[in-house]
This record gives sequence, C-alpha cells and structure tokens, in this order.
Amino acid sequence: MSDFVGAVDQGTTSTRFMIFDHGGNEIARHQLEHQQILPQAGWVEHNPTEIWERTRAVIETAMRDARLSASDLAALGITNQRETTLVWNRRNGRPYYNAIVWQDTRTDRIAAALNRDGRGDVIRRRAGLPPATYFSGAKIQWILDNVDGVREDARSGEAIFGNTDTWLLWNLTGGIDGGVHVTDPTNASRTMLMDLETLDWDEELLSFFGVPREMLPRILPSSNPDAYGMTRRRGPLGGETPLSGDLGDQQAATVGQVCFDPGEAKNTYGTGNFLLLNTGGEPVRSEHGLLTTVGYRFGAEPPVYALEGSIAVTGSAVQWLRDQLGIISGAAQSEALARQVDDNGGVYFVPAFSGLFAPYWRSDARGVIVGLSRYNTNAHIARAALEAICYQTRDIVEAMQRDSGVTLDVLRVDGGVTANNLCMQLQADILGVPVSKPVVAETTALGAAYAAGLAVGFWRSTEDLRKNWNEARRWLPTWTDEQRAEGYAGWRKAVERALGWVEV
Ligand code: G3P
Repeated sequence: MSDFVGAVDQGTTSTRFMIFDHGGNEIARHQLEHQQILPQAGWVEHNPTEIWERTRAVIETAMRDARLSASDLAALGITNQRETTLVWNRRNGRPYYNAIVWQDTRTDRIAAALNRDGRGDVIRRRAGLPPATYFSGAKIQWILDNVDGVREDARSGEAIFGNTDTWLLWNLTGGIDGGVHVTDPTNASRTMLMDLETLDWDEELLSFFGVPREMLPRILPSSNPDAYGMTRRRGPLGGETPLSGDLGDQQAATVGQVCFDPGEAKNTYGTGNFLLLNTGGEPVRSEHGLLTTVGYRFGAEPPVYALEGSIAVTGSAVQWLRDQLGIISGAAQSEALARQVDDNGGVYFVPAFSGLFAPYWRSDARGVIVGLSRYNTNAHIARAALEAICYQTRDIVEAMQRDSGVTLDVLRVDGGVTANNLCMQLQADILGVPVSKPVVAETTALGAAYAAGLAVGFWRSTEDLRKNWNEARRWLPTWTDEQRAEGYAGWRKAVERALGWVEV
C-alpha cells in the first residue's frame, strides 16, 4: 500500500522535492539552488545538467530522510518554471546550449518584429499570448539560429525541445535509454506555438519561428491516468513509480489552492508574481494585457482555462536589495528594515529588470527608483520594494476585473514572500480586499502531487482535495480609500517613468 505522493518543483532559483500524505500534509522535503548564469545584460541561463543533478539529489535526500522507497509513493508529479527553453540531443543526452530562462530578453528584436506585422495578432488570437521575450517560441528560434548544427538535427528529430518538465520527465524515464518526450497543455500554452482550442501544435505558429514539428514533445493531459512513463530502477527513486502529473508551476499552484471553480483566483509570490483566475471551460480573450492560458487538463475531461497576470520581478527585487545593493543580509531582513519607517517617504521603485510584463508588455521598460529626497533612507527603498510587489499585483487585479467582470472578494496567496507579514498587510491595504494564506503554503508542489495522485486514484475527486484546504492567516485592509488612491496614483506615475527607457 502506497501512502504518499511525491512532487518535484523545478523552479527558477532552486529545485525541491516534497512528499505529501493523503491529507495534503508535508512529510518530507529537500531543496537545492542552482547557478544563475548571467553572460551579459538581459541574458539569463541555467545549466540543464546541473538542474538534472540537483533533481536527483533532492529526491534521493528527501526519500532517505523520510526512510521511504519507491513503493511507498503511489505516484510522482512534476511542476516547473515555465517557458525556460532547452534543446538537447536525444541520442547522446547532451544539451546543445544552456537553458534560456523565461526572464531572458535576448529575443526582444524577434518579439518586436512579430508585433509590427500581422503575425502578432495571429499569435494573440490562437495562442492567447502577446508576442514577448517571455515565451519559449522565440527562444527556440534563437537556439536554431545561433547554435551550429541544431537546425539540421532538429529536422531529423535528433535535437529535441522541452521546458524543464520535459527535460526531467525524459531523464527520469530513462534518458537516452528510452526516455519519454512529453509535456502537458499548461506548459505548451506558454510557447506561442500551441493552439489554445485544439491543444495541439499549430503549423502556422511553428512557421513564424521556423520550428520543426519533429523537435516538439507530445502534449498529454496534466493529470494522466495512463502515466507518461515509469521512473527507472537506476534513477533517484531506485524503483518504478508512475509519473502521472505534469503542470507549469503557476497552474500547479492554482490546483494546490483548489481554485477549481470559475472566478476563483490565487497569487503566488516567488521570483516573480503570477495571479491566475479560473475562467472555466472557455478561454477568455484579454483586452487588458493579461494572458489566456490553460489552467489544467485532468485525464479525458475538457481543459479548464485561466486568465493570468504575470509579473517578472517581485521576490527577485528583494534579492536585488541583498545581492546588488547590499542593504539587507537576507529576505527576512527586508521586513525589519521596511518597518523602520511608517510609509514610503514618497519613494517608488519599479523593478522593471526584464522590461515590464503584464499588463504593459513593454520590453523597452527598465527599472527606476523615483521620488528621492535627502530625507530618504535604505528603509524607504526597502519599503518601496515591498510596495512594488503589491502595486504590480494591483495593476493585474484591475486588468482582470475589466476583462472578466469578476470582483475579487478575497485574494488567496502563497509562495515565499507570504512569510513577510508587512508585505501581506501592504497587499491588503493596496488592494482594499482581504488576503488569505493556506496552512500548506507550498501549493506549487502540492498541486503537482494532486495532479499525479488524482490520476492513479490516490485522491478520488477535486472535492477530496478541497477538504484539505485550511486557512492559516488572513490580513484585512486598514488604509482609507484616500490613502489607497493617492498611493496608487504615485505608483502609476513611477511606471510612466520606467516605460520606454531603452530602444528595441
Ligand atoms: O513563468 C515563469 C514562472 O513559471 C516561474 O516561476 O516560481 O520559478 O519563479 P518561479
């Protein structure tokens, strides 16, 4: 009898493995960071081999610590940083190039060209995405154009593409020795190559980027009763367990937060922020700068769609205060420093390090800190960084309400920054709605575990999962309407300064 389900969460800065029981409680976890490779301004890469090694290590360590073996796991799920693009050789298993990370802006010219002619509209309509550096399509094109020999190998099906979910599924199921080449619709919906209605690769979209179909993975349900494959005995689990769940990390968090009904939304605070609103069985086209994306597809059921507001830099703005400015020694200290002042002292910080994503989609934006006077201190900068996290979320909520007509009565939150009480209080104040956090805040890994467990009958239905959700803490708004309006007006002025800073 297998009492647990495992999930790999391959994120932007680290990889973790978590084990959950039937109640959705955490039994064990292990996490390791990997290197951020920054070869030049705007470029961000990861080493795929390092990511696979970290994945092996976190699985082995968590299983050892929990004294479990493969037979104790009913199923294994994968969730991943989305869009990050890998191309590798299926015969020798070697990557042709480092993984190009979602934050990387080297494809800004490709995206700008698509925006200038009619192709941009086709991408918007069919893939639900604005042409932007963020998504995988142009990153694949860059590798095909710039790395010797890849294009020929891609045509023959020897060079294959995947996001990190596909890379890990391939390695876990045997790699060069018969590994499966698959993904799910949530990940595929972030490539600019998949038709949102058919959930299949689209020939015209492929032609925009010169991507041969032969290099693309099969798109299978996010919760897959047939399983993508079995883990190998020689792999990190040391035995055979069905790999039956695969979701992009933000969609996984939506599942982990049990947002199964249209109108339910969650906001995850990680490296960036991602707010997803379940819109049900029909894709809702955004008029206000949001993405239309696949929320999940469970087995043979029809897909569930979501509207997404993606923000590139939130938690990583706090890291920047630590690593580049050196004004704090760790993320927790950002709260203590920001608490030294009662307000932002007129300072606004727009951390547009990768341009601005939703709802602006301007790769020509760059970061600004404005409103400084002699009076200001490090504490105001720290406070402005926390406020920026919350103001960017307000931009998204405003766009979402206009697109969907749904007014949020509560914002469900998760992710690392939710440990920062000041930031969550500011979020409630800046939005004017309560903010609610569940007991199990690791909703991303939990969502992947849910998808995997549903597939094998470990959980019977989404109703089963709902029972596992319990509130840990709620923050209520305290600002007056006037304070809120004044603060937001200042933010909008600051955003105006950030836009159009560089030419693309
Ligand atoms: O779209 C990018 C997103 O999936 C990355 O999430 O948590 O790894 O920063 P995270």
